[in-house]
Amino acid sequence: MSTAISPTAYNYKVVRQFAIMTVVWGILGMGLGVFIASQLVWPELNFDLPWTTFGRLRPLHTNLVIFAFGGCALFATSYYVVQRTCQTRLISDGLAAFTFWGWQAVIIGAIITLPMGFTTTKEYAELEWPLAILLAIVWVVYGIVFFGTIVKRKTKHIYVGNWFYGAFIVVTAMLHIVNHASLPVSFFKSYSAYAGATDAMIQWWYGHNAVGFFLTTGFLGMMYYFVPKQAERPIYSYRLSIVHFWALITLYIWAGPHHLHYTALPDWAQSLGMAMSIILLAPSWGGMINGMMTLSGAWHKLRTDPILRFLVVSLAFYGMSTFEGPMMAIKTVNALSHYTDWTIGHVHAGALGWVAMISIGALYHMIPKLYGRAQMHSISLINTHFWLATIGTVLYIASMWVNGITQGLMWRAINDDGTLTYSFVEALQASHPGFIVRALGGAFFASGMLFMAYNVWRTVRAADPVAAEAATKIAVVGAH
Ligand code: HEM
Ligand code: HEM
Repeated sequence: MSTAISPTAYNYKVVRQFAIMTVVWGILGMGLGVFIASQLVWPELNFDLPWTTFGRLRPLHTNLVIFAFGGCALFATSYYVVQRTCQTRLISDGLAAFTFWGWQAVIIGAIITLPMGFTTTKEYAELEWPLAILLAIVWVVYGIVFFGTIVKRKTKHIYVGNWFYGAFIVVTAMLHIVNHASLPVSFFKSYSAYAGATDAMIQWWYGHNAVGFFLTTGFLGMMYYFVPKQAERPIYSYRLSIVHFWALITLYIWAGPHHLHYTALPDWAQSLGMAMSIILLAPSWGGMINGMMTLSGAWHKLRTDPILRFLVVSLAFYGMSTFEGPMMAIKTVNALSHYTDWTIGHVHAGALGWVAMISIGALYHMIPKLYGRAQMHSISLINTHFWLATIGTVLYIASMWVNGITQGLMWRAINDDGTLTYSFVEALQASHPGFIVRALGGAFFASGMLFMAYNVWRTVRAADPVAAEAATKIAVVGAH
């Protein structure tokens, strides 16, 4: 791309870099998801090597899909949205470039260290202290670039999408730094600064809010920009978006204990987490409704626009997983669902249906604009991708519901004399068909990403540098 960008134009270079890497990491992370799903069907795929066992590749999958795929999508879209809605260039090209290369370095570090078995053992916070420190530095710089750009904005208003991105950046920094407090004993081994139930509580305060702020709030920022843009309609209710924002961030932070039901955590803390999780349904659905209703009067566009379909179906899955989550937080329901595949199904309803689908929709909207094209190379390939992703998600979730409830019921079945009716292995055997369907669903979803990669490659190859350069020129106020 041309480097002769005038200082008053948007910085699209870093947005392009993050956008392309979203697709690359998406393929690798989801491909690995299909691989570990296949290991649960055919255990021989563990190859009897420590580096390729399920136990080591599973955290690599979660790190790649959440931080590499999801993270790059959030960087790309937040840098795009903050510039366009503030009508100003990012505050520093150098710092923005540092966040790109620093973030990729953290990911490469994860790809090397996790299969080697270096891990803190805290879920979603597995990276050992040197990488955790690098991540913290990159994140603080990200905050400086994002908020610095907001400070020098040319508009009076701070568009609501930026509020969500901003909260996601601030809270993620807080969670990461507090949960990673530890004592290093060697270059790749550290011990948590907390002990016992306190350690568990801090970890799940982190874990749940990683879901709430990384996998939800950031993507809601995406929703508030890309849904109105693609639908060519103003957001349904600006007032609702403000209520939505404050209610969501006030409530999410309390819900962590629902991950620790029936553990050594004090009972009152478990009940508080349950109550706050149930209340959380309201702001979650408020946000979903605000996104959906933005399509009022534009529903017909769904017939012809597969990008809008991605965005709207992602909201439907968001609504579904945020209905399911509060139900699973009820202690008696959790007594059945916990430790079973039901949780895994819930996770992927959110992860595939919501996080991945809204990111894919946003990328299809943004990529042609970044490369000076009117639209993606092929709209029908986007449509194919949409159906592969939707069918894949449904197969994944449905098989995990069946497995989860089967496992929960089999584990708790008791004979008259108090002995267990089924052994663990019998429950595992009953789960096998569900594992096959899940691997198939995952393969559907991941193959859709290959269609996307081809479509993106053709669009980038046909880039029009002059039009791309012109698109970076800052528009007149009010025309973002
Ligand atoms: C109102 C919203 C939500 C509530 C109240 C909620 C509640 C829950 C509950 C009760 C569990 C099971 C905990 C256990 O038994 O161990 C869970 C697990 C999980 N949820 Fe949600 N959920 C919500 C939305 C979401 C969304 C939108 C996503 C993804 C984008 C998500 C991702 C996860 C993940 C990754 C786990 C697994 C954590 C682990 O054990 O590793 N949740 N959630
Ligand atoms: C092709 C797509 C995917 C496939 C086939 C897949 C498969 C899997 C498998 C087999 C597991 C382990 C389940 C177990 O331990 O029983 C898993 C865990 C997980 N995956 Fe995926 N995955 C995919 C995409 C994603 C995406 C896009 C995300 C996030 C954006 C994600 C987030 C997670 C999380 C958070 C867990 C841990 C859940 C927990 O501990 O409760 N996955 N995935």
